[in-house]
This record gives sequence, structure tokens and C-alpha cells, in this order.
Amino acid sequence: MRSIKVELGERSYELVVGSNLLDQADSLLPSSNYTNIVAIVDANVDEPYAGRLVESLRRRARVEKLVVPPGESSKSLGVAAELLDRMAELKIRRQDLVVTLGGGVVSDLGGFVASIYQRGIAVAHVPTTLLAQVDAAIGGKTGVNLWAGKNLVGTFWQPVAVLADISLLETLAEREFRSGMAEVVKYGLCYEPPILQVVESQSGSYDPAVLEDLVYRSAGIKAAVVSQDETDVGGRTILNYGHTFGHALEAVGRYERWLHGEAISVGMMFAAHLAGSMGLLDSDGVDAHRRALEAAGLPIRASFDREAVVAAWGIDKKFLDGQRWVLLEGLANPVIRSGVGPEHIDHALAQVSEKA
Ligand SMILES: NC(=O)c1ccc[n+]([C@@H]2O[C@H](COP(=O)([O-])OP(=O)(O)OC[C@H]3O[C@@H](n4cnc5c(N)ncnc54)[C@H](O)[C@@H]3O)[C@@H](O)[C@H]2O)c1
Ligand SMILES: [Zn+2]
Repeated sequence: MRSIKVELGERSYELVVGSNLLDQADSLLPSSNYTNIVAIVDANVDEPYAGRLVESLRRRARVEKLVVPPGESSKSLGVAAELLDRMAELKIRRQDLVVTLGGGVVSDLGGFVASIYQRGIAVAHVPTTLLAQVDAAIGGKTGVNLWAGKNLVGTFWQPVAVLADISLLETLAEREFRSGMAEVVKYGLCYEPPILQVVESQSGSYDPAVLEDLVYRSAGIKAAVVSQDETDVGGRTILNYGHTFGHALEAVGRYERWLHGEAISVGMMFAAHLAGSMGLLDSDGVDAHRRALEAAGLPIRASFDREAVVAAWGIDKKFLDGQRWVLLEGLANPVIRSGVGPEHIDHALAQVSEKA
């Protein structure tokens, strides 16, 4: 078990990475006196894990479990309102604690609910997907979706602890696991290239010690970036590497065809070709992207309508000039560029397009 301090002044907290943390949750949470703990649980992880978590938390306080249906549709104002009503019925007070058990859907939703219930009560996350362990549960961004778009309502609300238990990933679907690996590769490309060699050294199933190390390093990078830029006005932009293209691809696929990590995998390949075309990244740098993403079982190309992807950037092709791109001027050297010429965009689109 290893822990990382997320440095945020008086909002600093511990992020613990290890195995079988569920049974020790009571001792890993901050020492405050909670009377009630509300566990907000994704229905898919209720049966395998909630019992152990609740049993452990009961050594600290009265525990109530609220289960939410799996999937992005639970990130809604409606589900948030139901949870808030239930919490009020249960007479949860300001000094109490919310603990989320689930992936990014539940940490975003539960974090949001905690942040607004009685003007904000403490929340701790027990992320159960790789994506949530290395990304969503760290950093304090919470949110729900509106019809008009994803994450349009939300708050910044830092957790009081994050317990990333890699043994919980055993039941995660292979495709979801690979999707989370895209963020791990992102950290390798943008901050810590040795991560890429570790990813390449694993084939198929990951050795638990190696996986724990990857989660620890990745979560540490996210924590460090967030410490520097808590409210996303600067350094956090780099975390969007591959995401401009990736978000467009997700939208074009109606959020069904590609998982987030699959879309940003193609997005990072797109960014590599863009940087390659502009002379920022040499062919070894482009190859490093391809090798790591392929080793992680992620797509490096996709079949999509190029006009639709460009349209999903939300800007007229004539105004592509204004678009800012996170690009790599060599591995671990991210830069932000605008005014990227259409010839580079066209080249990169062709490279990641399956029909190319
Ligand atoms: N707040 C942030 O900074 C941030 C960052 C990245 C992503 N997000 C958000 O995270 C969400 C995506 O998160 P996600 O990829 O974790 O998706 P998710 O929470 O929907 O989980 C993916 C699927 O896996 C299931 N599942 C979760 N853990 C499991 C386990 N251990 N065993 C078996 N099944 C399990 C879930 O029920 C779900 O079906 C999006 O809504 C995104 O906007 C937020
Ligand atoms: Zn992402």
C-alpha cells in the first residue's frame, strides 16, 4: 500500500493505492467523528464489493447504502435530486460523510451531491474503474449532464480521501479496463515516458504489482497537476491531450460507439500525427504513441466521417485558426499551439482514418 498526498493547502488529502483496501476503509479515512456515512454505490459493484465496504465503515459510524443504476444516464439532475431527498430523509447532517463506490459516473455524481447537500458535506471516493482510479476520482471536479451536453452542471469539491484498490479491477470488463489504460498512456506520453515501457512490457493480463505501480504513478501525476491548478485555469489543460479529437469522436459516435479511452487513444494518435506534420515530433515520437497504445489493446485508427468530426469541434473550418491544441514537442514536452494549418489537420485526419 502506498499513499500520495494531494497538496491543496487546507483541502489537502491522502490518495491511497493498494490491494484489499475495502476491509480497511474505516482506518484509511480521516479521523473525524462522523455519525452517519452514506455509501453511494454503482449497482454493478454492489454485490461484489459494497458488503465489505459497509462492514468496514460500520466500525466508524452508522452506514446507509444508496444504490444507483449503472451508466452515464445516472449522471443526471434527476438522480442527484433523488439522492439528496434520500439523504434528507435519513437525516444526514453537515458533519457526516458520503463515500462513493463505483467508476467515474458515481464519483462525479456522488461528489456533486455531497458538494451541494446542506452547502457541502465531506466526500471520499473508492473508485472501481481504472479510469476513475487514475483520473475521475482525483481532482475535485464533480458534475452531471444536461440534455444540451455532458458535465454542464458541476462544482469543484475536493474529496477528503481517495482509496484506489486495484483488486477491485478484477471484475471490470476487459474493454473498460483497456479504455482506462488510455489515460495511463497519456500520462506516459505527456509527463513520464518510462510508463510507456511498463505498458509495453505487459501483454494481456497485468501483473498486480505492475498494475499497482502504474496506478500509483498515474494518480501521482494527476494529483501533482491538480495541486498546481486546482480550478483548471492553466496546467490542467495538458491533461486534455488527445481529447479535442477524442471528444469529437465520442460525440460523432453518439457516446455509444467508442468508449472514452478508445476515442482519446485515436485522439492521441491524431495529435501525434499533427505534431509530426508540423515538425514538432519526430517519427520515433509518433511510433512511441503507436507502440504503447497498441500494447494496451487500444485503437490507433477509426472509421468516421471527417466532416462530422471537424464540425463536432464546434467551430467553422474557416476558423480552425482559433483552435488550441495540446501537442508534444517531443515526449514529455507538451506545448499548446493555435493557428495550426488545415494541411496538417487534413494529414492527421487521414492518418487516423480507417479508410486511409
Ligand atoms: N471528474 C473528472 O475529473 C472526470 C475525469 C474523467 C472522467 N470523468 C467522468 O467519468 C465517467 C466515466 O467513468 P468510468 O469510465 O469509470 O465509467 P462508469 O462509472 O460508467 O463505469 C464503467 C462501467 O463499469 C462498471 N463498473 C465499474 N466498476 C466496476 C468493477 N470494479 N467491476 C465491474 N464493473 C464495474 C460500471 O457499472 C459501468 O457499467 C464519465 O461520466 C466522465 O465524464 C470525470
Ligand atoms: Zn480523459
